[in-house]
Amino acid sequence: MPRLIRALGCLLFASLPALALATPAEEARIDKLIGKMTLQEKAGQLTLVAAVYDDEPSDRERKPGEPTAMERQLNEIRDGKISAVFNGIGADWARKLQRAAVKESRLGIPLLISVDAIHGFRTIFPVPLAEAASWDVELAERVARATAVEATAAGVAWNLAPNVDIARDARWGRGVEGAGEDVLLAQRMAAARVRGIQKGEGGKHLAEPDALLATPKHFVGYGAAEGGLDYNPADISERTLREVYLPPFKAAIDAGALALMAGFHEIGGVPMMANHHLLTEVLRDEWGYEGIVVSDYAADHELVEHGVARDDREAVKIAFMAGVDVSMTSRLYQQYLPDLVEAGEVPVERLDQAVRRMLRVKMKLGLFEAPYGRIDAAREKQLSHTPAARALALQAAQRSIVLLKNDHDLLPLARDARVALIGPLAGGPDHLNGPWTVFDDKRDAVSVEAGLRKALGANARISVSKGSNIDSPLPGGLEAAVSAAQNADVVVLAIGESEAMTGEAQSRTEVVIPPAQQALAEAIAATGRPTVVLLRTGRALALEGAVRDADAILVTWFLAAETGNAIADVLYGDVNPSGRLPVSFPQRPGQVPVYYARKNTGRPAPAGPFQEYTARYRDIGVGPLYPFGHGLGYSRVEYDEPTLNTTWLEWNGTLKVSARVRNTGSRSVTETVQFYLRDRVASVTRPLRELKDFRRITLAPGESRELSFTLRHDDLAFLGDDLKPVVEPGDFDVWIAPSATAGTPVRFKLMPEQPVPDSDEKP
Ligand code: NOJ
Repeated sequence: MPRLIRALGCLLFASLPALALATPAEEARIDKLIGKMTLQEKAGQLTLVAAVYDDEPSDRERKPGEPTAMERQLNEIRDGKISAVFNGIGADWARKLQRAAVKESRLGIPLLISVDAIHGFRTIFPVPLAEAASWDVELAERVARATAVEATAAGVAWNLAPNVDIARDARWGRGVEGAGEDVLLAQRMAAARVRGIQKGEGGKHLAEPDALLATPKHFVGYGAAEGGLDYNPADISERTLREVYLPPFKAAIDAGALALMAGFHEIGGVPMMANHHLLTEVLRDEWGYEGIVVSDYAADHELVEHGVARDDREAVKIAFMAGVDVSMTSRLYQQYLPDLVEAGEVPVERLDQAVRRMLRVKMKLGLFEAPYGRIDAAREKQLSHTPAARALALQAAQRSIVLLKNDHDLLPLARDARVALIGPLAGGPDHLNGPWTVFDDKRDAVSVEAGLRKALGANARISVSKGSNIDSPLPGGLEAAVSAAQNADVVVLAIGESEAMTGEAQSRTEVVIPPAQQALAEAIAATGRPTVVLLRTGRALALEGAVRDADAILVTWFLAAETGNAIADVLYGDVNPSGRLPVSFPQRPGQVPVYYARKNTGRPAPAGPFQEYTARYRDIGVGPLYPFGHGLGYSRVEYDEPTLNTTWLEWNGTLKVSARVRNTGSRSVTETVQFYLRDRVASVTRPLRELKDFRRITLAPGESRELSFTLRHDDLAFLGDDLKPVVEPGDFDVWIAPSATAGTPVRFKLMPEQPVPDSDEKP
């Protein structure tokens, strides 16, 4: 290796501060192992590949005497060419692989088995966007925990989750995997999910046999793809990255995440896989992140398609030197890293650094001490599909449902009402779980029809008709549905997106109800029957015509296992809906991206009719149809105007903002009380509102409670012109409100650090 590169390598990699991830004894053990490893074995430790099983379809085409796919994979493990395998399960299968790594490879380094358990493993929970609609952080942690228990019982040690991408453009299909549009909600959900995945019951955190390694993804700004088109470039300023897209990753890392996935996309001409600035300067140098960075699926190879690498060899060099430690699926690290090091193009110190990170993570997971700790067929049987997980799936589904409107108190329904359950999403086992499930059995999920029938028992007065297909008219469907509606007291219309319409590579140009279903809704509306829409969706949709004008709308997302039961509970009032939108619903599809924390512009449009030369569309105002944070219950909740302990906040003082929240209705209610802030004048523009805190409270009928939120000067910090945090004195507005567009602002002034002589101007 040329001397200069070696010297540079030593400087860059050896001088890093000692990491606290492993004890001195563990470090010594790692040193020893690294000392013994060949370059090929080192590259092998940085290689994650897809799982194969006995009897793969490809096996049938092999020539006599050739090994099966499984035998080839086992051989690669024995040869130290693979560090980790993903999306395979089963204690017996896992044991075979682990034995090859621990007993049959030269150095006996344990294998990491990983999965994409995005919203459950065997028991499937509501999609993450739905769960975010609960605004229930503790629930998200419990769901992540239950997922970890099921997955670890099947031999898994590494979860390629949570997805912490902020998604503000509803066209992008992967918003369904995250927590929506808001920075604070996304941070809290990210941290909760990481804690749940990594915690383990016995207090040894990752080393517990029921703990998984978490992988916040897709670093960073993947959700900002141009035009909402998956994999598209995201042209994000450093400010927006730091204000919006990076914070959930920081929260996940602060919660202890020790793996992180780099995205497929580019930002401003630099693919994430080549982004030294973000992967090394921000992640490592600024944040002190100690875990591993894994590529997304063959994303190292994609540097060639991006046009920043001539060939795969160069792609490996660029990705590895940018900071991607582990390569997923392509096997390109295995193929090229040894040669790149020998040729002096990659310093061996960088290779050792990445291997060290991987070995530390494996040690932290307890794999060296107990390589079979998570592989136990009896435990697998005992801990899969437990009643406790199922009960949690029901609770999560109940809390994820958002009631957008409820004209004339149509809901809850009377149990003896004759119901026409209509729509392509009314029955059957399809489209309940939502995208990104790997090991589910869709027959486990309860359809809307099954849930309603179970809730109503033998006396159920339900007729069921499909009305239309999801994407096309159903011959005779409209007529049958209209006649069913005419013979019912109330229509429950189950419409929306299919499972395939959201998720990876499922971008849509028109975020609307598919036309065949819209036509069905119009035909039902013409009957004049009171109608409840059950809206199945993985994104915010622009609701139009008869759907928008239905008497009641429940956003039911993809609620998975307990869909029908949770919906029946809410329809009949056994559960009071308590979800709140984690994404703004646009008025029209062409309005996206629409999100509440937007900027004022220099020409804010006044409310009301169109006015020339202001920032609004010709046809509609800029606001959403339903804002972030919106959601009703079956009671009336009123908010008093907030009061402040002072309108003149001293630099070192504490502002207390309080408001009384009253349940003036006749049912108990769970209310998510939201606390928003606006910085009126600052050296850079600030959003019209920012969520600063929120609290879920339950109020009995007639009960009122005073809630207080506090702010100190550092809670008012933002990134100044130089992108460094700064707090500037001046005027601020605060709201305590039930959504991002509700409530009355109250103003206070933050006083300068040093009192300004002769300035006694008070607000
Ligand atoms: C591609 C997806 O972008 C990523 O989220 C996932 O973890 C990998 N495929 C592996 O399944």
